[in-house]
Amino acid sequence: MNNAPRCDNTLAWTALRGHYEAHGRDFDLREAFARDAGRFEAFGIEAPEVFADLSKNRWDLATFKLLLELARECRLEARRDAMLSGEAINTTEGRAVLHTALRAPKGQGPFSSDVHEVLDRMLAYVERVRDTSASGIRHVVNIGIGGSDLGPQMVVPALDAYCRRGLHFHFVSNVDGHDISPVLRELNPAETLFIIASKTFTTQETMANAHVAKAWFLANGGTDTRRHFVATTTNVKAAAEFGIDTTFGFWDWVGGRYSLWSAIGLPIALAVGADNFRALLAGAHAMDQHFAQAPLESNLPVVLGLLDVWYRNFHGFSSRSVAPYHQGLKRLPAYLQQLEMESNGKCVDLSGAPLPYGTSPVVWGEPGTNGQHAYFQMLHQGTDVIPVEFIAVKRPIHEHADLHAKLLANCLAQSQALMQGKTTDQALGDKAPTASRELDPGVVARHRSFPGNRPSTTLLLEHLTPRSLGALVALYEHRVFVSGALWGINSFDQWGVELGKALCNDLLPRFANGDTQGLDASTAGLLKRLVA
Ligand code: F6P
Repeated sequence: MNNAPRCDNTLAWTALRGHYEAHGRDFDLREAFARDAGRFEAFGIEAPEVFADLSKNRWDLATFKLLLELARECRLEARRDAMLSGEAINTTEGRAVLHTALRAPKGQGPFSSDVHEVLDRMLAYVERVRDTSASGIRHVVNIGIGGSDLGPQMVVPALDAYCRRGLHFHFVSNVDGHDISPVLRELNPAETLFIIASKTFTTQETMANAHVAKAWFLANGGTDTRRHFVATTTNVKAAAEFGIDTTFGFWDWVGGRYSLWSAIGLPIALAVGADNFRALLAGAHAMDQHFAQAPLESNLPVVLGLLDVWYRNFHGFSSRSVAPYHQGLKRLPAYLQQLEMESNGKCVDLSGAPLPYGTSPVVWGEPGTNGQHAYFQMLHQGTDVIPVEFIAVKRPIHEHADLHAKLLANCLAQSQALMQGKTTDQALGDKAPTASRELDPGVVARHRSFPGNRPSTTLLLEHLTPRSLGALVALYEHRVFVSGALWGINSFDQWGVELGKALCNDLLPRFANGDTQGLDASTAGLLKRLVA
């Protein structure tokens, strides 16, 4: 599929440039709503488990039409179909990209018998461990990093309401003893199951922590490593060499950041059980179907990806903030950082040519309402425009209805405030609760005015369930694919992590021998201080 044109070599791109200059740069959301009573309906999209309100964004139907033309000229549908059918679209690693096959029902999708053999075996194992009176397991420690950590670490708290009580989950990722030490301090080998999660089974951090865990297990009276250590990996041989014989495998066509649906999801399955894990997969599959079949204009991942390109390459917004108004989704921003920034943080196209336009935005955020009392000040009154993505869940799984109403009202109020803003004249009419009486009211009003016209998207879920979470995560995966495809990059490699790994391997022995030869003066100076 490498012969599809890059976004900047299309007629639509040129047209979008002209459209931005004529209508985009000065687009005013307040005027757009005043002009068009049907704007909410026109920019609302219903996808499986997720409704998206895209109306508070700086675009109109003309923008939308041009973006759809861009998608067509870039042959987005053919690129999508190439991925879904298992073409080796990860060209720099010569691999297919088939995380969608992991959630296809039995008998459907590529590699179905391999996928379902591991899934069935893993879920049978899960049910045995979850029978805690028979298994004796009370604590599960997942040792992994990046894609072998962030997915399970995000999903387990998100699905807390579905989690097995009496089974406690711990996630160790960092090659920093401050991560594993407090975890081990609370554990006893007889009640603990360690999952060594690593696609490659060579990652420095994971292997180092796995060895610490094994040494702790043996030193503290642990006897049966075979029962207490399990691996999730594509490298079964390395796991066996480590001394693990219960291994759940997966395949090189599953990217690390797309792997929570594979054996890497073992902690999730242990937490929520086989049926709920299957529901998570089914939700993702429903979104896959939507992505594969819905027309471009009502295809939510496509539309979100197009909006991302519009903002990044025409408005020049280099960041996007994610604000899940659900405490269970507290790790979603961190998960999305890897998904989007490791996928689309690239500066050359598929042919290796340098790109003349921006790619991945910075993705960041915190759950609402906490973020409101921290960095939302900057979103409202800072000098940069940062589109915000609100995620709200209609029905909570707790009995505090009054808290939930407050949470949802806050969520809507923030997107309203970002858009509406407040003029100096409006602020003059307000009484400032904390302003000094000595100050000129005009000056205070200028400090208390808001520019407004700040864009946001709101994603609404009815309930946060395994199924809806699966759909939400798959939505993000496909949206990242869409912007990456239009940018003409390989969203599925991650060479940018290699250089630091190599330099670390060079530096490590220098910490023992103090050798600073060949190092730049800064690194040499810091090393000397650290080893002194
Ligand atoms: O940081 C690079 C990376 O390769 C990620 O893409 C991956 O998710 C992570 O390291 C962990 O890799 P592994 O699962 O092989 O230990």
